[in-house]
Amino acid sequence: MQTCWIVYNGSLTDEKFIDQALLLQEAANKQEIQATLVKNYELLMDVQHGLHEKPDFVVFLDKDILLAKFLKNEGIPVFNDPDVIEICDNKARQYMALANAHIPMPRTIIAPKVYANFTIQHTGFYEQVLQTIHLPMIIKEAHGSFGMKVYLIETKKQFFDKVEELNGKEYVFQEYIESSRGRDIRVNVVGGQVVACMYRHSETDFRANITNGGTASPIILTERQKEVAILAAQVLNAEFAGVDLLFGEDEEPLVCEVNGVAHIRNLYNVTGINVGDAMISYILSKVGAVVI
Ligand SMILES: Nc1ncnc2c1ncn2[C@@H]1O[C@H](COP(=O)(O)OP(=O)(O)OP(=O)(O)O)[C@@H](O)[C@H]1O
Ligand SMILES: [Mg+2]
Repeated sequence: MQTCWIVYNGSLTDEKFIDQALLLQEAANKQEIQATLVKNYELLMDVQHGLHEKPDFVVFLDKDILLAKFLKNEGIPVFNDPDVIEICDNKARQYMALANAHIPMPRTIIAPKVYANFTIQHTGFYEQVLQTIHLPMIIKEAHGSFGMKVYLIETKKQFFDKVEELNGKEYVFQEYIESSRGRDIRVNVVGGQVVACMYRHSETDFRANITNGGTASPIILTERQKEVAILAAQVLNAEFAGVDLLFGEDEEPLVCEVNGVAHIRNLYNVTGINVGDAMISYILSKVGAVVI
């Protein structure tokens, strides 16, 4: 019997993280894989001595990129690949890659590095940003999930307060897609195929994330929405991807972001599809079945 580890973050106490791991475990068990849930800190990254015990593969449900790289370095196939998790975990880096491939997305400017406790106000830099991307705009930290590090900036005061607050952090300035206010689509792509999707909608917040009070419902994608989601995943080499699409003018899809470690519980609740099934099938097609 093949074995796998489903690695998640043991420091996050919200039950959605363990729940996510359980969905994957259920999918693996269905395909006769012996799947063990492993908290990231349960694997000792003993750099000289390595691991004593190794599974046939790892499904990595966390952003502990060093651990993902350590496991790969131990010769274990890790899904998603640690490099993919890393690039997706940095929105500035992923936007550069998406823009290089001409993926439709909101106009985006990456903030320069400003050290904490220093400032570049009065240099004219921010005025240039304000002239290029007008208010209201989005400011988005490079690392963040559940919409928690995404800000709608409507006034100059909010803008200057936020940029000062973010000194020392990586973030981007982004065009606000007003036509998508409070709504987006989450598309889950596995191995270049759309496996499940949902429409997310909020009446109370510009962000559609369910964690922010949004509600999810089923949706049938247009061919263009499918195409853009698949292309975005492909550009980032993301074998598994949760692609968020915004609605541009005339409803044309714009990529909001690509998640390299996408949550699958809400999709399961809305569509009845356990994306884990497709993830495990895909991994088995890559690592091969056991020959007894
Ligand atoms: N440029 C934009 N214009 C309009 N709305 C946006 C824009 N960027 C983000 N949003 C809204 O904010 C939400 C959160 O943004 P984003 O998906 O980039 O951040 P996140 O915190 O990484 O989310 P996730 O929980 O999906 O990882 C989006 O789902 C969307 O509704
Ligand atoms: Mg998102």
